[in-house]
Amino acid sequence: MRRGFLITAIVAFASASCGSSKVASTPDPWADVLRMTTIPDTNSDPRVVEVSLEAKNAEWEIAPGQSVHAMTFNGSVPGPVIEAHVGDTLIVHFVNHLDEPTTIHWHGVRVPANMDGSPSAQMPVPPGGTFDYQFPLLDAGTFWYHPHVNESVQMEHGMYGALIVRGDNEPRSDFEGVVMLDDLTLGMDGQIAPPDGVLEDHTGREGPISLLNGRTNLVIPIRAGERQRWRIVNAGSARFYRFAIANQKLTVLGTDGGPVSTPYDTDELFMVPGDRMDVLITASGAPGSRAVIQNLPYLRGHGGGITEAMDLAAIEYNGDEALPKSEPPKPGTEIAHIATDGITPRIITFDEQIDMTTGETTFLIDGQSYPNVPSFDAHVGVTEVWNLVNNSGMDHPFHLHGFFFQVVSRNGMPESSPTWEDTIDLHGHDTLRIAFTPDNRPGMWMYHCHILEHVAHGMMADFHVMP
Ligand code: C2O
Ligand code: CU
Repeated sequence: MRRGFLITAIVAFASASCGSSKVASTPDPWADVLRMTTIPDTNSDPRVVEVSLEAKNAEWEIAPGQSVHAMTFNGSVPGPVIEAHVGDTLIVHFVNHLDEPTTIHWHGVRVPANMDGSPSAQMPVPPGGTFDYQFPLLDAGTFWYHPHVNESVQMEHGMYGALIVRGDNEPRSDFEGVVMLDDLTLGMDGQIAPPDGVLEDHTGREGPISLLNGRTNLVIPIRAGERQRWRIVNAGSARFYRFAIANQKLTVLGTDGGPVSTPYDTDELFMVPGDRMDVLITASGAPGSRAVIQNLPYLRGHGGGITEAMDLAAIEYNGDEALPKSEPPKPGTEIAHIATDGITPRIITFDEQIDMTTGETTFLIDGQSYPNVPSFDAHVGVTEVWNLVNNSGMDHPFHLHGFFFQVVSRNGMPESSPTWEDTIDLHGHDTLRIAFTPDNRPGMWMYHCHILEHVAHGMMADFHVMP
């Protein structure tokens, strides 16, 4: 029931950008882009957030006057933002009005295993079917939801939304918004192109149309001097981001698993599919000027990635230069290293196999592709150490369901300041050692590459957390 914060912030943002007599230039009609639809909470208990989500086909306006047939949550892309407070219970009444089965997976949320929406957790909800998800929200952070069925089609067609969980001591900002990054490939008919065959299956789909909150070429007004908090989600199928705003510092507050130990300034954010970053932007441009939001070059192997920067959107500094009203962020709680001494790591390998006749790639974990990858047992309270060994020449964004892990080392080099992650880049030919301790949520859990075409071609597996 704590929807007040974002709504207040949204109103403040709208009036800052449109209502002020000092606005330097004509506001973009889509200036409200960060004002995403917040879903109504129908439960009067302040500790329960109860919402309805409907999977349905709808038209998706990616640019003024340009629409594509989409698959959506509640008719919009991105789907509505769900907001809650740590300790709340979230209840989601889900109905599937697509023409195909689907589910909802709560990416990054420490749900009970049977609420995870993955193929290991539940039967897909058939067309016309319903499912009620219900779970406590144990962590503050930036999470997102998406289907876990036919991902490379359903997610490409727009099925994703953000879940924001706030803690008791959130950093102050003048405005808080959600930024979901994605891209799109359209066919000759102007509609989202169907899967394009062996090459795309191999590299993963990277569309030429860049989207920020489901729209192209946005100009986002920001009051000069203002301190905005952006919760950024990479919802793309295979797009990696080196997210940067020209001449604009970003202050990192948190990653996948919530706050970092100490907020730090950076010029860019490296985000693989599935990743989240929680940042503060202290608008530093001169009133009336613009700064381009860019994706900087990164090559992720086998032809994936970009050699030249791509423009994603722009921000426009409006109004008087004013000092930020909000305080700069304070150092948070130190994240301690997980103790891994004496634990023999499990070796988990990532491979690819190309059929010389068809050209089709099969993506493998431990030499097999889903659902044939052998699962193994872990135990509640017993620390797991995994050596993720990438035998291929391309990056695979590794995602673990249900638990946050720390990176212990990269190619044997210890990681100095640990963060909590659920998604991390496994660079081509690298070995990444990760560690986590399953808390008391036994059941079947998945891990996989978050390039959706790689999921579709087998790079997914599960393991059993025993009570
Ligand atoms: Cu974002 Cu298994 O998923
Ligand atoms: Cu992959």
